Amino acid sequence: MLALDNVTVGYGRASVLHRVSLRVNPGEIIALVGANGAGKSTTLRAISGVLKPTTGSILLDGKSIGSLSPERIAALGIAHVPEGRRVFPAFTVRENLEIAGLALGRPAQEIEEDVKGVMKLFPRLEERQGQYGWSLSGGEQQMLVIGRGLVARPKLLMLDEPSLGLAPNLVDQLFDVIEEIRERGTTILLVEQNANMALAVADRAYVLELGTITLQGSAEDLSNNDLVRDSYLGMGTEELI
Ligand SMILES: Nc1ncnc2c1ncn2[C@@H]1O[C@H](COP(=O)(O)OP(=O)(O)OP(=O)(O)O)[C@@H](O)[C@H]1O
Ligand SMILES: [Mg+2]
Repeated sequence: MLALDNVTVGYGRASVLHRVSLRVNPGEIIALVGANGAGKSTTLRAISGVLKPTTGSILLDGKSIGSLSPERIAALGIAHVPEGRRVFPAFTVRENLEIAGLALGRPAQEIEEDVKGVMKLFPRLEERQGQYGWSLSGGEQQMLVIGRGLVARPKLLMLDEPSLGLAPNLVDQLFDVIEEIRERGTTILLVEQNANMALAVADRAYVLELGTITLQGSAEDLSNNDLVRDSYLGMGTEELI
């Protein structure tokens, strides 16, 4: 579905990713793990078209998307839920969800169906559908931004650190939801500091270090890899920072 080949990208003249190649097949959950500053968010920004590669190619279903605008790439079916929780504070939960569909020019009835689907996935959002974005808790805001990504009805959903700052019980729920989203047919590219959880749900994973993919393989193999265990597993995020 998605293929990056030798992608180099950065900010201004400084390259952050160096010849990154990765594949995401339909129906997979792919985890991208790595320490702070490794270039995980930059990779997602390159895929969603916010940053343009200086070398290499990005293909979606075999077609090059590397030079398309972010709007065009979103319309082709890639939803990017960025780091941090950016809900629209002055809109209600329901409006926040509807906007995601309206922005893509989708018919009202389809949007309504998808909003219902998101509320089924996150019952808390259904309870709070009339509440303003600014008044939500951090965990509720995180559910809302993921829900907004889903209302775009993407083929590929990219989640950047969805578990960051969530209480442990919410993290468990979140990963259950991620699995459920995949079961409904959406392919997922998951960026996580919580490598334990990410490798537990992912099919395959890539390890990014200083802008270079240094390891890749099945999630199971990587969980058993000594380098991965020493560097990314079995320690709190505070030790990574
Ligand atoms: N807007 C920007 N301008 C310049 N440099 C940037 C910008 N955003 C990120 N960088 C740099 O690019 C590198 C990779 O950053 P990126 O945000 O992709 O890392 P990350 O793996 O997502 O880290 P984290 O786990 O902390 O979110 C870092 O050195 C960072 O300082
Ligand atoms: Mg990041």
